[in-house]
Amino acid sequence: MPFLREGISLNLIDIHCHFLPGIDDGAADSDVSIEMLSDSVSQGVEVVAATPHYYGKKRTIDDFIKLREEAFLNLCERALQKKVKLPKILLGAEVALTRGISARENLDLLCIQDSNLILLELPFEPWGEWVYNEVERVISDWQMTVILAHPERYVRMPWDMKRLKPFFDMGAVLQINAETVVEEKGRTKRFLKSGCPCVLGSDAHNMYNRKSQLGAAAKRLAELYGESLLEQINEVYDIIGLNY
Ligand SMILES: [Fe+2]
Repeated sequence: MPFLREGISLNLIDIHCHFLPGIDDGAADSDVSIEMLSDSVSQGVEVVAATPHYYGKKRTIDDFIKLREEAFLNLCERALQKKVKLPKILLGAEVALTRGISARENLDLLCIQDSNLILLELPFEPWGEWVYNEVERVISDWQMTVILAHPERYVRMPWDMKRLKPFFDMGAVLQINAETVVEEKGRTKRFLKSGCPCVLGSDAHNMYNRKSQLGAAAKRLAELYGESLLEQINEVYDIIGLNY
């Protein structure tokens, strides 16, 4: 296991990654998947959630689950052929928040494996009231814990944090992308100081322009804010029931 420095180990969970082959705009095939996972392991990542995009307008949840299963089996077969040991994999999804998503049958099948955690991607167009209502219903009707994927994409200016405030009040967890931390321009601090629980995710898609930078992000966080911050992140995983 790689070490941050003597005595402090990186024991990372990647809660957002597009490494499953041929299912979305992530890994093109199983060989790329294996490269991505091996790269993650070399950075100290021990658990990786497979979170391919789920777009409700594109396919049903059942069809998505079948495709995800197929992609996962293809990956496992290829890893066996190549005699590569994979990290622990959790099957999940990055669920695009669309109108009516909270009323979808079998929404719980999109949670990260064996948990009530759902990774939600907010819309990029301006948010109407319906966005907040949908998230609220996902939480109250399904008793799910919502993890908001890369909130930094929606907060360009400090005052944009106000748009996220209702989600904080609902108990959402924020998943910050590793590359945002690595390229730190003061944005990460806003989230860390928001009082909202934060976790990291790579949101890696491939091995060329969207590689995982989770290990580098953890080290950067430790440099900027102290190693206790990494402990805090691990505590969030404990609280939301995702620690291994
Ligand atoms: Fe993503």
